[in-house]
Amino acid sequence: MDLKVIKESVEFIKEKLNGFEPEIGAILGSGLGDMADRIENKIIVKYSDIPNMPVSTVQGHAGQFVCGTLEGKNVIMMQGRFHFYEGHNMSLIALPIHIMKYLGVKSLLVTNACGGVNTSFVPGDLMMITDHINFSGANPLIGHNEEEIGPRFPDMSTAYDTEYLKLAKKVGEELNIDLKEGVYMMFSGPTYETPAEIRMARIIGADAVGMSTVPEVIAANHCGMRIIGISCITNMAAGILDQPLNHEEVIETSTMAKAKFVSLVKGIIRNL
Ligand code: HPA
Repeated sequence: MDLKVIKESVEFIKEKLNGFEPEIGAILGSGLGDMADRIENKIIVKYSDIPNMPVSTVQGHAGQFVCGTLEGKNVIMMQGRFHFYEGHNMSLIALPIHIMKYLGVKSLLVTNACGGVNTSFVPGDLMMITDHINFSGANPLIGHNEEEIGPRFPDMSTAYDTEYLKLAKKVGEELNIDLKEGVYMMFSGPTYETPAEIRMARIIGADAVGMSTVPEVIAANHCGMRIIGISCITNMAAGILDQPLNHEEVIETSTMAKAKFVSLVKGIIRNL
C-alpha cells in the first residue's frame, strides 16, 4: 500500500485519538468481538469513517477500531477484520496493520476461529500459533515495497515471537487452560476445505486450518511488530467427523469458548 494512503488514514485516526497512543494491537476473530467492550475510556473509530479503509461484510463482525486501556495497557482492538474471500486485495487487508504501526503499536495479538486438523484437538480448544503455512496463493507484500515500512524480502523465521509463546504458555498454565500449540494453515475460502485438502494439510504439517490471520501476520512481521497468535478450534476440519461444517457451529463454539478465550487474552495483555 502506498505510504501516502496509509498516512492519510493514520492522520484521520490520530485526530480522533486526541493524544492517546496505543502500544498493543489486537485483532478479534469470530465470536471474540465483544472483548473490546471491556476496554476502559473507549474511543471508537468506525472503519467506514476512515479514508481508504475497506468495509467488512461478514455477519457477526462489527467494523471498528476500539481504543483505550485494558489490563493497564494502551490498546487498539480491531472489532472485525477483512478477509481475502470477501474479494479484498491482500494489501488492503494489511492496511489496518500499517495504520496500527504508525499509531505506535509494537506488539500484535491475533485471534481467529479455525478448524482442527490435529486429531488430538477437540472443538473449544485454544491453540497458540507457533508458525503458519500460507496456502492462500497470495501475499499482502506483493507489489511495490515501501522501504520505510520494511525490507523487500522479510525473514519469516520467527514471525510468531518466541518469548511471547513462552509467555502465553505461562499464562495458560496459571489460568488452568489446556493451551494447545500448532501450525495454522490458511486457505482462501470461502468454501470450507474438502476432506482430501485436510488430509494434505495434515501431511504437510498443519494442525489447524482457517481463512484469515496469515495476511495480517505477514504485514505485521514485515513492519517489525512482535506477534502472538491464538486460535479457537471451533470444529474438527472436513472429513474428520461424519458431519457437515457450517458457520453456525463456528459461531456457537467460539461463543462457548469465549470466557476462556477472553481470560487468556486479558492475561496475555497484562503480561506483555
Ligand atoms: N476451515 C476453515 N476455516 C474455518 C474452519 C474450518 O474448518 N472453522 C472455522 N474457520
